Amino acid sequence: MSVVLEPKLTGKTPWFAGDAPPESVPEKYRLGRAYVPKTRYLNPEFLELELDKLFTRTWQIACREEELTGVGSYVEYEIGKHSILVVRESRTAISAYFNACRHRGTRLAKGRGRVGSIICPFHGWRWNLDGSIRLVLDREEFVPRSDEHLGLVRVRTETWGGFVFINMDPDAAPLLDYLDPIPRIFEPFHYENMRIRWQKGVVLPCNWKTVLDGFLEAYHVAGTHPQLHRFDKANTNIASMKELENRTWSPTTTYERHAHYSSVGQKKSATDASNAKKDPTARGTSGTVDPREAFALSVQYIYDDMRGLENERSWRAAEALKTAELPEGQGPGAAFMKIYHDLVVSEGYEWNDISPEQWAEAGTAWNVFPNSILLPNQGSSFMYRSRPYGDDPNQCLFEIFGLDQVPASEYDTKREYDPQVFEDYRDADLGEVFSQDLMNTKEITVGMHSPSFDGHRLSEDQEMTIYNHHRVADRFLWTD
Ligand code: FES
Ligand SMILES: [Fe+2]
Repeated sequence: MSVVLEPKLTGKTPWFAGDAPPESVPEKYRLGRAYVPKTRYLNPEFLELELDKLFTRTWQIACREEELTGVGSYVEYEIGKHSILVVRESRTAISAYFNACRHRGTRLAKGRGRVGSIICPFHGWRWNLDGSIRLVLDREEFVPRSDEHLGLVRVRTETWGGFVFINMDPDAAPLLDYLDPIPRIFEPFHYENMRIRWQKGVVLPCNWKTVLDGFLEAYHVAGTHPQLHRFDKANTNIASMKELENRTWSPTTTYERHAHYSSVGQKKSATDASNAKKDPTARGTSGTVDPREAFALSVQYIYDDMRGLENERSWRAAEALKTAELPEGQGPGAAFMKIYHDLVVSEGYEWNDISPEQWAEAGTAWNVFPNSILLPNQGSSFMYRSRPYGDDPNQCLFEIFGLDQVPASEYDTKREYDPQVFEDYRDADLGEVFSQDLMNTKEITVGMHSPSFDGHRLSEDQEMTIYNHHRVADRFLWTD
């Protein structure tokens, strides 16, 4: 049974005192108050432990349902030394198997593709899509073994919101319990109606957690993305002290396993107000004359530069907002939502009714423990996923998925898309904002190796998402 800790907007959560690290955690890996030792990022031994104890026992997003287009479509999910084959077994069933031959262990399939049966590339043993053995060449020469013994070894797989999750632990709790409270909070965003519009992977010179950490807080926005709060988005000069006064505040909220941050507006006013909440109608760019223009530009910049989270429909709605008449007393945000709503409905899309309370609870970005992040928005979303790269704790494969809602008439339409992997993020054409984030990953890693640095000292308001990951990981890493 899952227990949801009382979420706290300020991040100064009561579990700090009550949830001390397990006794069995060795001193060098032990968390302190809002403190994470660097050994948990840099030691090869720690990565080995993660691969043996954490990734083998947690639910992870292996792919999206739409990637398994037809019966026999498969996607390989690799995590460190583990490889799992996710297969569409029938129109309605998805199965997952350890990707290893029952004869001499050979990996059965790589990457993605579509097959009639699963055939080992070494001696050609064959399996049906349900994992049952179909052919053992010269079977009479082998010690008699039951078909059951020769079948592929299943891995748990369950779906939510169009995501296909796997879990190598046969005794794991059901996916929906594990994800709690995400399925309830994300329900109004209807991820099942979204499809991958693009997916890019980059190999980065940092630990798999380092890049996720950067996307789990918005405390870095003033330092890393100063243009985000400027009218002139081309101006990426470091923020002035005056500009820092208007920085946004993004408190974190931690749950039993998952955590999120929520950008709630300017720190000054947000911390004054007793109940600051994320409100998508309240964003904008400070220091400008026309609030319609400021609001529209912040929507359009996200789509133009990041190519996700917003979409071409919200871009057009923003364009129309620039010249729209604002009713007396109405801000640009409410007018934008009305224009956006009318536009998508007239073009055959379902509009997601999301109440102010639901927006507030959803916040900005969620860590789906252990290695993914979701950013919910009306009609679009980003999904990030990070995985260790080989056995090097200082490298990872980081992927960005741009998800977009499709018109209701296309829910059953098969779509092709082309996942790409780049050895160098600078070749991936990811825009200014992502490039700023990814540039940091190397600098963080170099600095973390300095003998002068011992560990992360985290903000108790804005960086508890990062702490929470380690707190939850401890439960898996030090138990059998
Ligand atoms: S190793 Fe697969 S058939 Fe021999
Ligand atoms: Fe960033």
